Amino acid sequence: MTKPQIRPATGAQYSRIHGVGGYRPVRVIPNSEVLEWIDSSDEWIRTRSGIAERRWAGPEESVAEMSVQAAGKAIAQAGIAPEQIGGVIVATVSHLKQTPAIATEIAERLGCGTAPAFDISAACAGFGYGLGLADGMIRGGNAEYVLVIGVERLSDLTDKSDRSTAFIFGDGAGAAIVGPSDTPGIGKLIWGSDGSQRDVISQTQAWDTAFAKPDAINGAGTETKWPALRMEGQPVFRWAVWEMAKVAQQALDAAGITADQLGAFIPHQANMRITDAMIKALKLPESVPVARDIAETGNTSAASIPLAMERMLESGEAHSGDLALIIGFGAGLVYAAAVVTLP
Ligand SMILES: CC(C)(COP(=O)(O)OP(=O)(O)OC[C@H]1O[C@@H](n2cnc3c(N)ncnc32)[C@H](O)[C@@H]1OP(=O)(O)O)[C@@H](O)C(=O)NCCC(=O)NCCS
Repeated sequence: MTKPQIRPATGAQYSRIHGVGGYRPVRVIPNSEVLEWIDSSDEWIRTRSGIAERRWAGPEESVAEMSVQAAGKAIAQAGIAPEQIGGVIVATVSHLKQTPAIATEIAERLGCGTAPAFDISAACAGFGYGLGLADGMIRGGNAEYVLVIGVERLSDLTDKSDRSTAFIFGDGAGAAIVGPSDTPGIGKLIWGSDGSQRDVISQTQAWDTAFAKPDAINGAGTETKWPALRMEGQPVFRWAVWEMAKVAQQALDAAGITADQLGAFIPHQANMRITDAMIKALKLPESVPVARDIAETGNTSAASIPLAMERMLESGEAHSGDLALIIGFGAGLVYAAAVVTLP
């Protein structure tokens, strides 16, 4: 007797991004406001990071609310109905309620029926990780369309007295609808991690440690504080400049694309100087438009690539159908890069 054989799932041959959308909080925090918290200067912040202002979310602009707003735009651009979405992936490190995943609330509010919905924690590489998962789900036959969201309220995890981070982080959400395609729209994902460097960007203390101490919530006393993100700027900077340029090049090579064929370079908006160093290392021709959304948005971790992508498309700097090189990198350390076709 022949052994019964499982009928394999069959999916689309290729996938691509069908729509992108972003949400930027209403409240603008200019550098002048940051100078009320830390000893610094507008010039120092601009020259060291490229940031002129960032946006911080208000009480109504929750992780779910910002995500729903961004996703609504991406769904509209894709021209699909929410019921067609067969997966909701939310990349975030700043949703403070750990269980349940915020993705299920977002899926329900958008009307995605019973779509599988889950959160991933991959910091500034979160959008790229989500894109890779979506691509696999679609080509593997486990979903037709997948909603990938990168969303952060990093202001909730920012220590306003920390000179090395107070000026960097911002809040916001970016979303993309990934779906089937007749032609390749997402190149091989070059992704990875380096846990030996897990301490260079991390939360100052675990929640259990913080709550075990009586003054944890209000920050009273000297010993404990509400947990925040802490970063060793220089090692992160060096790693990003040296290692990430190589990863970006690998993504180009794997996709069979040369830098001069790109219509946009959209790196994670970590720091404008990191972007400039990567441009040099990649020998990117001056004709390729580069995302510089960090100037007005700050570093929004998982949200930064889709937010920057939306801005480039809206401003006309990049165009639908162009090839874009995206690369995210951050706490973990983790990274993810790919060449994609812009929606
Ligand atoms: C954070 C970062 C901008 C700091 O720049 P840096 O040149 O490394 O700064 P350093 O900590 O070495 O300090 C250099 C000088 O600036 C001063 N400085 C540090 N923070 C400052 C601030 N906020 N304002 C003004 N001066 C500051 C230091 O005191 C030091 O002064 P000194 O030379 O008189 O001792 C930089 O390291 C960086 O961008 N790293 C990557 C961070 C990043 O992109 N993270 C996101 C990854 S997801």
